Amino acid sequence: MCGIIGISSNKSVSANIVNSLKKLEYRGYDSAGIATLSDGKINEFKSEGRVDKLEQNFDLKNLKGNIGIGHVRWATHGMPNSVNAHPHSSFNVSVVHNGIIENSTVLKKHLVEQGHNFKSQTDTEVIVHLITENLKTKDFEVAITKTLKQLHGSFALGIVFKDMPDLIVGARRGSPLAVGYGPNENYLGSDSYALKSMTNKVTYLDDGEFCIVKKDQVLFFNEEGKKINKKILELSSNEASYDKGDFKHFMAKEIEEQPNTIKTGIKEYIDKTNSEINIFNFPWKVSEINSITLIGCGTAYHSCLMAKYWFDELTQLDVNIDIASEFRYRKNRFKENSLYIFVSQSGETADTYAALDLCNKNKMKTCAVVNVIESSIARDSKFVLPIHCGPEIGVASTKAFLGQILILYILALKLSSLRKEITKENYQEKIKDLQDLPKLIEKSLLIDNDIQAISSTFNEAKGSMFLGRGFSYPIALEGALKLKELSYVHAEGYPAGEMKHGPLALIEDGMPVVVLAPRDSYYLKTISNMQEVIARGAKVLLITNKIKDEVVSENIWETIEVENTNNDLLPFLLTIPLQKLAYYSALKKGYDIDKPRNLAKSVTVE
Ligand code: G6P
Repeated sequence: MCGIIGISSNKSVSANIVNSLKKLEYRGYDSAGIATLSDGKINEFKSEGRVDKLEQNFDLKNLKGNIGIGHVRWATHGMPNSVNAHPHSSFNVSVVHNGIIENSTVLKKHLVEQGHNFKSQTDTEVIVHLITENLKTKDFEVAITKTLKQLHGSFALGIVFKDMPDLIVGARRGSPLAVGYGPNENYLGSDSYALKSMTNKVTYLDDGEFCIVKKDQVLFFNEEGKKINKKILELSSNEASYDKGDFKHFMAKEIEEQPNTIKTGIKEYIDKTNSEINIFNFPWKVSEINSITLIGCGTAYHSCLMAKYWFDELTQLDVNIDIASEFRYRKNRFKENSLYIFVSQSGETADTYAALDLCNKNKMKTCAVVNVIESSIARDSKFVLPIHCGPEIGVASTKAFLGQILILYILALKLSSLRKEITKENYQEKIKDLQDLPKLIEKSLLIDNDIQAISSTFNEAKGSMFLGRGFSYPIALEGALKLKELSYVHAEGYPAGEMKHGPLALIEDGMPVVVLAPRDSYYLKTISNMQEVIARGAKVLLITNKIKDEVVSENIWETIEVENTNNDLLPFLLTIPLQKLAYYSALKKGYDIDKPRNLAKSVTVE
């Protein structure tokens, strides 16, 4: 999704703007641009494609200006090309924007009538002309406040002014924006990651606020234009974790990091000595909760679905799941004894945030399961369970998925124990099994040779299916999502038992089908469903767990066995081959694995 950077300094800023834009590349984008102020001019440079192309097309090294803004664009209004790329400038104002201006058509009509000329097809250009217009009659801060009030929709903005060469204005509604503090310079950024190489001291703007960033001073304002004070936070995680190391792609690194993700999660949440779960500061009594709704998008939604199976198995709680973009517009019946859990890697997904905001406004109990603890979702939830998996850069989520399902499993176990719905022995046995999980994941990762060979069949196919039942069904959905995201192959995740109600018609000779059939209570049923697709010509890749008994079935094309553990934990292990299958399929096709086409890491617009 679009990324913003702004720097106000006592030295030239273009090199640092370009470096920071490269940090924002992980969000996924299609064009890039930069504008600096020097010698009473706005210098604007934009290109379709990557930041590298922007550097190749223009001599940015010699670009003058101690103040500037930069942008990576993920197209919403208008094709991805250099005209629609940001910044957008009038003769006196230049703007970078993340978000969507919903009333841009109406505003544009008025502005055109007032004589403004538009160059692009974007909604953003409206902001430029609106500020230019408001500056004609209003004082600076009043003009900004008025402009922001005229905009409907969501935005994070960085704005520079030809006649005010010492400041950048930042503004936030809906889309995240951070201010950073450095020596003789200050920054604006879409996230702290973009600012990381320059500072670890940041302030997050809240909804409706704007700020004026000068090299030696930052001023904050509320939506009425009144000055306010804000806290400066010190960030902890280190820069090294943003490095690919010896890996070809961040995704490959992140897949291999998963034993560590689980180890860290266990260290944070499990008291080994007492076989107990360390979630002590839960702000509500368990007797106050009788239902749970889990909400997320994309992979995080699959984590919610996974958690539902565990909550149903381990507790008597009434558990619902929802896709955030559906939840936020549905007529919801908010009940006092419900707990709402928001699952998000970035903590900035616009739909998930809107769903949280709705719950907060209805005074519900809200809990966030997030990776980025400084994020909006973490800050605005009443209780936070961080997944501690470190930065995830690959657009396709891998280690964050395992991190999320680990924390949700731990929470399900804890609530089951607090509600006295699990025996002490069973509880402690499950905690013990959890501690072996990092090793089992480590072993299950050693399948590269097998998967590489298999992956070509998936590349070349017209389409594929991923089937599972029970605990394996959410993993089938996640496996299909990974293959679509990365190799652009049509892949459908389906409950194996539902195939005969329609999708079986898709099966034709040679179609690759992944069947997840671990030896759990669903095993024999899934194997029967597998036979039904084999009988219709499917090439089945069976993924099961290692146990002594042989698989009781014939005509299976390939089998991959993950390690063995208790039924609850098998989903963690089944996920690994599916991540690798998607990775190697995309690698063979030569696709951009860390930044798949059309996708973004952090989806900060609706
Ligand atoms: C985007 C990403 C997905 C992610 C989803 C939700 O679509 O590409 O990988 O699962 O957003 O993101 P979140 O940060 O809320 O987990």
